[in-house]
Amino acid sequence: MVKTTVSVIKADVGSVAGHTCPTREMIEYARKKLSEARDSKLIKSYHVYSVGDDIGLVMTHERGEDDPEVHKLAWDIFREITEKVSKPLKLYAAGQDLLKNAFSGNIKGMGPGVAELEFEERSSDPIIVFAADKTSPAAWNLILYRIFADPSNTAGLVIDPILHDGFIFEVMDLIEGKVVRLKTPEETYDLLSLIGTINRYVISRVYRAKDNEPAASASTTRLSYIAGKYVGKDDPVLIVRAQAGFPAVGEILSAFAIPHLVPGWMRGSHYGPLMPVSFRKKQNVISYFDGPPRVVAMGWQISNGILVGVEGEEPVDLFEDPVWEYSRELATKVAIYMRTMGEIMPARIEIEEMEYTTLPKVMEKLKGRFIQVGK
Ligand code: 13P
Ligand code: 13P
Ligand code: MG
Ligand code: MG
Repeated sequence: MVKTTVSVIKADVGSVAGHTCPTREMIEYARKKLSEARDSKLIKSYHVYSVGDDIGLVMTHERGEDDPEVHKLAWDIFREITEKVSKPLKLYAAGQDLLKNAFSGNIKGMGPGVAELEFEERSSDPIIVFAADKTSPAAWNLILYRIFADPSNTAGLVIDPILHDGFIFEVMDLIEGKVVRLKTPEETYDLLSLIGTINRYVISRVYRAKDNEPAASASTTRLSYIAGKYVGKDDPVLIVRAQAGFPAVGEILSAFAIPHLVPGWMRGSHYGPLMPVSFRKKQNVISYFDGPPRVVAMGWQISNGILVGVEGEEPVDLFEDPVWEYSRELATKVAIYMRTMGEIMPARIEIEEMEYTTLPKVMEKLKGRFIQVGK
């Protein structure tokens, strides 16, 4: 049976009013290109979204993950938007996430974020794509733990016989470039030991333990590691399959109810709450201290390789429900509270994460002025 692949490839290639949002022309350009790619049968369906200053391409096809043609399509779109729209208009940080020049078969490691999930369609296959701005892949650690391993979030872990067998988490060591697979519930504490260290260990994929069926896939790019300096946050994406042997949509969304603190926000150097926002209400435009970090949730059915939304490929806006206003209010309060601490940790991120900022220069300047004590 032919498998369907959902590919989400995203990049920040320039924005209006600082790191706020892309122009409509940029989005339209991406739509036109993806429409042509669908007509030429490279992809089967698509949706273009934005969150904060990031543009995302959601594409379905039957070419599998890491397909050079699909990756090249995305790379060319981001390059062309940069050259034809962002640069001529002097948009802010035009081409920000395009860190390499020549495309060589895979967009991973070139700057844009990638999450892909290939699977055999069930009789009905709901999916959610989460897209965040002003944060890093670490933002998903607690979320994925809550969804797939925390029975106080996901009732199905207790009461659905398929979920009861647990899940396998693939955790990536961003420094060593290695992955380790951990099975919950048996290895829950080992999993937590790793993923608590958010700047090193991030969850890249989740599989259902019963049959190894792919359940979730996250983007794990570290832009600063590729560029050798701070160029912007990674602003990650996440694909999650739902219902009938996977956590229900409502269980998946529950994980976002109490906004947790994530690294990112202003200059990628602060901890702020991850605010779940509605894209239909246009809450995906960041403003306060370049944030706070936020996330949109787009829901579809995958049907014969096509994205089925509420109207054509237009997704359900899953954080539109008034219940999320409470979460947004809480996130606002936490954001304002965190700002009262200024540049004092833990409001500001750790020194290791600041290595590409002014701090090493400050240390260099003061080096000779440190006097030994206690001798
Ligand atoms: P599924 O069995 O399809 O996951 O449905 C469970 C449910 O109704 C909660 O949403
Ligand atoms: P982005 O990573 O979203 O471009 O934000 C960069 C930044 O420094 C915001 O203050
Ligand atoms: Mg930006
Ligand atoms: Mg961004």
